[in-house]
Amino acid sequence: MVVKKEKYKALVVEETGPGVFERKIRDRVIGDLPPGEVLIRVKYSSLNYKDALSASGNKAVTKNYPHTPGIDAAGIIEKSETDKFRAGDQAIVHGYDLGMNTSGGFGQYIRVPASWVVELPEGIELKESMIYGTAGFTAAMSVAKLVESVRPEDGEILVTGATGGVGCVAVAILSKLGYTVVAGSGKSNAKDFLQKLGAKEVIGREELKQDLHRPLAKARWAGVVDTVGGELLAAAIKATKPHGVVTCCGNVASPDLPLNVYPFILRGVTLVGIDAQNCRMAVRKQIWKKLATDWKISALDKLYKEVSLHELSFEIDQMLKALHLGRILVDLGSLPK
Ligand SMILES: NC(=O)c1ccc[n+]([C@@H]2O[C@H](COP(=O)([O-])OP(=O)(O)OC[C@H]3O[C@@H](n4cnc5c(N)ncnc54)[C@H](OP(=O)(O)O)[C@@H]3O)[C@@H](O)[C@H]2O)c1
Repeated sequence: MVVKKEKYKALVVEETGPGVFERKIRDRVIGDLPPGEVLIRVKYSSLNYKDALSASGNKAVTKNYPHTPGIDAAGIIEKSETDKFRAGDQAIVHGYDLGMNTSGGFGQYIRVPASWVVELPEGIELKESMIYGTAGFTAAMSVAKLVESVRPEDGEILVTGATGGVGCVAVAILSKLGYTVVAGSGKSNAKDFLQKLGAKEVIGREELKQDLHRPLAKARWAGVVDTVGGELLAAAIKATKPHGVVTCCGNVASPDLPLNVYPFILRGVTLVGIDAQNCRMAVRKQIWKKLATDWKISALDKLYKEVSLHELSFEIDQMLKALHLGRILVDLGSLPK
């Protein structure tokens, strides 16, 4: 039985002066969590790019501080005010407003609307679900769009931002499904990491952009999973083969797209937008089922680093400098309440 005054630990971001933000591990009180039908004891969370923005005071992501980020959470339901879930059920919550303006997964408890909760599917453990996290889920959403019309025999698939969370899971899923994957990365030391996940070749960012000034580039890619936006996305679209598919989910390089219409009107290229945050619940469940079964990647243990809440602030700074490799799993069970 959870007592409302019971305390738990959370990473709290505080605005200590105009534009000055500090991260501290604080005691929080369960009774102060926002309203919602489901109270969850969080076992694992993960670090996503959006968390790094929220944890560094980006007000386009989080308007009010103090705040506990964490757009991902997986744990055990402690209390449910709906028949859909029972205490003891294992659950995943990601996206919607979690970790943005609703206290998130970098705390040992969350309270959320029942409509945000996904029951952990069979075939996957809580820890594995957070190795994927939102980034892995987004990779799977992107792959799902791609495989609708691109087959392995159609040619190479480019993944940009390949050492990032979305990129590395996309590389691993696509190669498991039999696609020939070319990884685009800005890290000169990432070849070994990416090849172990199944990439056939690793190409540097600058090389990928070399034909950007042309109206169209030599057609090479049957499909593209882009995670960075900007010039790299524009160059990838210009180098996509007739009737290829390009997915777009991120803006770490830039939200702008310096492009003309030729890839679309002369080659019939399709550009597909990916929105994991508000993905419909029916699709959300299907994607998690795939991640737990036929798309479950054997290289899952090769693409993550596990940290405690105390080690998380360092990883946030690394992510903001694009110095991390793969996914960062956060273990919240390792701390005393
Ligand atoms: N639409 C959605 O629903 C959705 C969901 C999840 C994430 N996202 C977005 O997708 C993007 C990637 O997320 P993530 O979790 O994979 O982030 P991440 O782990 O931080 O990875 C981003 C990767 O992009 C590359 N990169 C960094 N700065 C760059 C730059 N200036 N130019 C080109 N490449 C750069 C780096 O990989 P290399 O060093 O290997 O190049 C980096 O590891 C973010 O913008 C995130 O907000 C969107």
